[in-house]
Order: sequence, then structure tokens, then C-alpha cells
Amino acid sequence: MEKKLTFLGIETSCDETAASVVQENSDGTAKVLSNIVSSQIKEHKKFGGVVPEIAARAHVENIDFIIQKALDKSNKKINHIDGIAATAGPGLVVCLNVGYNIGKSLAKFGAKPFLSINHLEGHTLSPGIENKISFPYLVLLVSGGHSQFLIAKGLNNYKQIGTTIDDAVGEAFDKTAKILDLGYPGGPSVERFAKKGKKDSYKLPLPIINKGGCNLSLAGLKTDVLRKSKNITTNQEKYNLAASFQETINKILVKKTEIAMQEFDNEISSNSLKSFVVVGGVAANESIRNNLKKISRKMNFRCIFPSKEFCGDNAAMIAWAGIQRFRKKLFEKENEIVRSRWPLDKDAPFLKGPGLKL
Ligand code: KG4
Ligand code: ZN
Repeated sequence: MEKKLTFLGIETSCDETAASVVQENSDGTAKVLSNIVSSQIKEHKKFGGVVPEIAARAHVENIDFIIQKALDKSNKKINHIDGIAATAGPGLVVCLNVGYNIGKSLAKFGAKPFLSINHLEGHTLSPGIENKISFPYLVLLVSGGHSQFLIAKGLNNYKQIGTTIDDAVGEAFDKTAKILDLGYPGGPSVERFAKKGKKDSYKLPLPIINKGGCNLSLAGLKTDVLRKSKNITTNQEKYNLAASFQETINKILVKKTEIAMQEFDNEISSNSLKSFVVVGGVAANESIRNNLKKISRKMNFRCIFPSKEFCGDNAAMIAWAGIQRFRKKLFEKENEIVRSRWPLDKDAPFLKGPGLKL
């Protein structure tokens, strides 16, 4: 390979201010030289969720320091960097603008290439930092704002085969944590308290489990958790409900993954080992990891999770997406702006709203 590229990545799409320096390896994976993530948990905790204006202000206050820290930790100066990649969507526009504008300005002053990155593509490519994976592969992206099954056919070439018709999986964890008063952020606290509970104590609904292909629906589950929470009188019952909720999510994800794998097999004829990658914040959940590993073995897929530091929002995945796009000369247009909505598969139907038929 010619010179190994080193990119600076910047991520400010929601409540994490992140910067990272990533260098290509010659085997197609990457070396993360620094991965700095400043979480705003404290700022949003009292509101039980992300407040966009507070998040944007925290990004403005932190971003210079976080970028400098990422450069220092990697032992690189800005003039050693070959290109800059920043998240341009989807996300909160006031937040995206902070990282995007500073990235663009740094690139302009340093006369370096600048790449606008889709946050969802960052997640989708994140397992490739540590693993050699070739296209096509099946993706389950489960985060706070998105839940979808995709066939990653190539860079910039994604087919969405399933999505949530209401709440995202991370959102369901966050809402359940709020209902049960387990603390913020919701996903990790539900996982922690679920360990103290019995997972078969409550029977919760499995919405659209036998219809709608590999689409998901979680709003009914959350409503039932809310209803059942009203009769809770002890901490043990609370942990039991958290455990039952997590178990129900597992059942839904396992069944829908099985369907997605069948769809992948129908669409892609391949004799080589098939890969299934699970990405996004929820991919950090141990019980979900174990269950998805089991179904992958049954369905003959190699199941790959990023290390936990690359599951939640981070800028290493953005730098890495930038390097790969730069190599393939996949630049967004010059007059690019940040966007709140930016589907990876622009032909996928928008499956939300009343009157939806599955
Ligand atoms: O990918 P991410 O950091 O941000 C978005 O792009 O949304 O995902 C955040 C989501 C949150 O909803 C959070 O509660 C969930 O991922 N999450 C988890 C766990 N860790 C984070 N959900 C379940 N179990 C976890 N251990
Ligand atoms: Zn994310």
C-alpha cells in the first residue's frame, strides 16, 4: 500500500463531543491512535434526556479542547493529518453544526481534504476498525435514534430491509429506565438492574413478531412496561420488570435477526462465510450480544461486534469512514450542509405514522 492515511474525525451529532485520530493499517483495518469522548451525562441527567440547546452549548465549550486532546494523545500535530472527517447528519442540527463547522474550517486553513460523514455509515463501518470484513454483510444498527437491518453491499451502497415503525431499541431502554426510575443514561442502567431480576417474571408483548418481515415495533412494549410499573411496590419487582423488558427485547431481536438473515440469503448468493455486524450504543449490551451470537451460529453467520468503546457514539468511526470514502473518492458535494434526517438507503420507505400497513 502507498502511504498510510491518518485522519482526524469529529462527532457532535447528539450529546457526545468526540474527536479521534485514526490511521490505516496495511491489512484493511485501522489503528485508533486516540479516541476522546466527552459525554454530557451530567448536563442532561436532571432532564432525563438530551436538551438540544444545552447539548450545543456544551459542544461549543468543549470542542477545541477535545480536538487538541485527540491530537496530543495520538502524538500528531494538525500538519501530520491527511484529512478531516466530521459528522454531517443525521442528528440535532444545532449540535451537528458545531463539529462540522470546526472540521471544515480546520481543513480549509490546513488545505486538507474534508469529508462529510453520515453518522449511520460511521456506525455501520465501525466493526471494520478491528476486523477484516468484506462486503456484502448484514448489519443490525441499534442506537438511541435508529434501529434498522441493512445489507451493506459496498461503501455508500446500503439496502435497508427493516426498521422500527415507532421507537428505536435504545429509546425503549431509555424510556423503560425513566419509567422505572433507574437512572440516566437508560441502556446501561437497565442492563445493570436487569442482572438482579428474574427475566421470566412478567409476560410482555412482542409487537409484530409474526408479521412485517424484519421491521420492529416497540411502542406497545413500552406502554405495557408503564402499565405494569404502576403495580410495583418493591425494588425486587422493579428489577424483575427490567429483566423481563430486556428479555423481551432479546426475543424480538433474535426473531427479527433470523428473518433478516433469511432475507440476506435470498438476496445475496455467496459461498463464502457470511458476516453479521451489530453496531450502535445498544450493541454494548451483554445479553443482547450473547443472544445474537447464538442465532448467528444457528444461521451460519459470523457475528461481529465492535469493542464497546466503538459501539456508542465516537469519532473513531467517523475518521475511519472518512479514510474509506477518501480512498474511494466518495466526496459529498461542495455546498453540503448538515441535516437532521439522512437515511443510508434513500429508496427505503418511511415506515412511521398512522395508517401504516405491514
Ligand atoms: O449509538 P449511540 O451512542 O447514540 C445514538 O446514535 O443514538 O446509542 C445510544 C443508545 C442509548 O439509547 C443508550 O441507552 C443505548 O444506546 N445503550 C444501551 C446500552 N448502552 C447504551 N442499551 C442497552 N444496553 C446497554 N448496555
Ligand atoms: Zn450513534
